[in-house]
Amino acid sequence: MRIEIMKDAGELSRAAADLICDAVRVKRDARLGLPTGGTPILTYRELARRIGTDCSTNIVYAIDEFAGVPSGTAGTNSAFYREHLRISAHAVHCPDSGAADPEREIASFAEAIGAGGGLDLCVLGLGVNGHIAFNEPGSRRESRARVVALTPETRRAHAQAFGSLDLVPALGMTLGVADLMAVRSLCVIVQGAHKAAIARAAIEGPRTPDVPASWLQQRADVIWMLDAAAAAALSTTRTSA
Ligand code: PGA
Repeated sequence: MRIEIMKDAGELSRAAADLICDAVRVKRDARLGLPTGGTPILTYRELARRIGTDCSTNIVYAIDEFAGVPSGTAGTNSAFYREHLRISAHAVHCPDSGAADPEREIASFAEAIGAGGGLDLCVLGLGVNGHIAFNEPGSRRESRARVVALTPETRRAHAQAFGSLDLVPALGMTLGVADLMAVRSLCVIVQGAHKAAIARAAIEGPRTPDVPASWLQQRADVIWMLDAAAAAALSTTRTSA
């Protein structure tokens, strides 16, 4: 794994935007899996600033979505992308959170990614409970795209976006750990002191379903980008400088 420690969130977002733009420069129709959440917002702002310069439109896939609420509901990933990802909406593919059959919806979403040749780059966030996409603790290395029960931590983390905890769906749809591990390039962005303990567990702890992000240790080429606060508990002292 490559560990890059940035001094702050601004530096982290510029580095993540660089990585995304590089992927698009190398392949104009690069297929990108991009995360939602608080961490990537600055990265998307940086990307928006660069659009028209060195980073143009490409094809973006969600890596997870809530289930059981109409598409575009405040708090869903489709709403997040609309608000924060300032590229052509036609280029953003997201499972339909309102699908009547979420299992079929996420299975066909994953099939469409495969039929398109797979993802070239996937940027992941890290949940405080160690999840990647909605692969919650307990997710096996071989897990595939599926419907999952969201943990209380994950639901709490989204309460504000949905308006209240009660409004956060109980279920999510996610690409599986095995689907993510099959992506050509993988990067994880982690920001803030509240992620320090789980970042250490994911990077330096045992590989275990209890910390789904720890499965990423099996790929030597995964890039971890952390700000100094998130990296504070790591034994490594490598920096990006
Ligand atoms: P966050 O979410 O960026 O809002 O902390 C990360 C995640 O759950 O993937």
